[in-house]
Amino acid sequence: MNRKEFLSDCGKIGFAGVTLSLFPWLQSCSDKAKQEVKGEKARIGIIGTGSRGCFHIKHLVQMPNVEVVALCDNYRPHLEDAAQYYPKAKLYDDYRHLLEQRDVEGVIIATPLYLHAPMTLDALSAGKRVFCEKSMGYTLDECLEVYNKRKETNGVLFIGQQRLFDPKYIKAMSMIHEGKIGDVVGVRNYWYRNNNWRRDVPSPELERHINWRLYSEYSRGLMTELACHQLQNGSWALGMLPEQVMGSGHLVHWLKEDKRDVYDCVSAIFTYPNGVNMTFESIISNKHFGMGEQILGTNGTIDLVTGMYYSDEPAPKGSGMHQLIAQIESGVMSNSVFAGTSWAAESSPLAPGVPIMTNVKVVTGESTVGAEADGSRELLEAFIHATITGRQPEKVLEESYYATQFALLADKAMHENQILRLDEKYKIPYTPLK
Ligand SMILES: NC(=O)c1ccc[n+]([C@@H]2O[C@H](COP(=O)([O-])OP(=O)(O)OC[C@H]3O[C@@H](n4cnc5c(N)ncnc54)[C@H](O)[C@@H]3O)[C@@H](O)[C@H]2O)c1
Repeated sequence: MNRKEFLSDCGKIGFAGVTLSLFPWLQSCSDKAKQEVKGEKARIGIIGTGSRGCFHIKHLVQMPNVEVVALCDNYRPHLEDAAQYYPKAKLYDDYRHLLEQRDVEGVIIATPLYLHAPMTLDALSAGKRVFCEKSMGYTLDECLEVYNKRKETNGVLFIGQQRLFDPKYIKAMSMIHEGKIGDVVGVRNYWYRNNNWRRDVPSPELERHINWRLYSEYSRGLMTELACHQLQNGSWALGMLPEQVMGSGHLVHWLKEDKRDVYDCVSAIFTYPNGVNMTFESIISNKHFGMGEQILGTNGTIDLVTGMYYSDEPAPKGSGMHQLIAQIESGVMSNSVFAGTSWAAESSPLAPGVPIMTNVKVVTGESTVGAEADGSRELLEAFIHATITGRQPEKVLEESYYATQFALLADKAMHENQILRLDEKYKIPYTPLK
């Protein structure tokens, strides 16, 4: 497909005006790619039919070229929930038996983090195409092993980093690379919630099985559950990988309630080779600021979550008198002493943003299951396309690999109270997106 065809196709699905080299994996979302697999069906098995597994099922049932032929979960109530959608699918409680089912071409893995790498490695070895939920692995070594296995088997591997397929992120990154906000001088990510992150447990022996996120034996907490989504923003916007990370993490609130041992309050600073910093902060006992992913440039700012652009030099709104009235109305003058301004807000109250595209779909980040219209559906469609064609799209795995590696490295920096760099042995070939 040439560039013109790609752009025209992408326009139809909301990816209008994008730069092909920035988003090579989107080729599989185009109309032309859909035509390529028309009338064909990918035979899929799902491993892990808990909340995210069932979220994917709700998309899969609407897709014409998918047949779910096998389901696996070692917790019977979850397996039965999923089986209602696919009464003809074979049911398993051991994923290795699902992998032996010959007509399963692709698997979707939506199990707790500590199982991602072992299950992905086994599935790739069994010749299945694989979509594994984020994060890619529980350790730095596991991620490398999975990456190498995909290469060795020449298989298909997608990780559940759906922002790479979210139209507003695609549009925003195009604008950033075209210079709309000037030089990128900062990246701010944060994710705040105020809930205990627990799920109801029908009986006490199931506590760790159901609430695996809260225990470091199975999960790396906020870094692998939330940060991995946001950490790809810096590399994507800056066209380079961070050089070092420092961080601080603590369990400050929810320990009063239970026996969890993952942090509920984390901050990390990643520094890029040009000195620019990317921050990530998450607290789950205060939600006032919600979720934010902001790319700060010398001429303006883009908030990826809300799809808003803010100029640092907004056009003046009407006459001086109108501006004065607007300032008084917005409270900017309320702290002024009679003789002059002792404090005035910086430009933000005076710089209303503009949406970067029509029909921006905004998600709050509150759902622990996943949100509609955040790229999840497009990501799944791309995987189904790859299952049928056997073609691994360019660069999508490398982006996901580094998102997880930097989430894990930051977690390690917090635990060791050290400034850390990614060891050379974990570096894989990476061509920056630009
Ligand atoms: N991409 C996103 O936005 C997004 C959103 C939510 C969750 N997730 C990811 O999806 C994954 C699952 O999260 P979830 O919220 O659905 O968790 P969950 O606990 O609801 O579901 C996990 C399922 O795996 C099953 N399971 C556990 N061990 C198993 C085994 N050995 N064999 C077979 N099944 C097993 C459990 O019984 C459960 O049904 C996590 O990695 C999470 O990070 C991604």
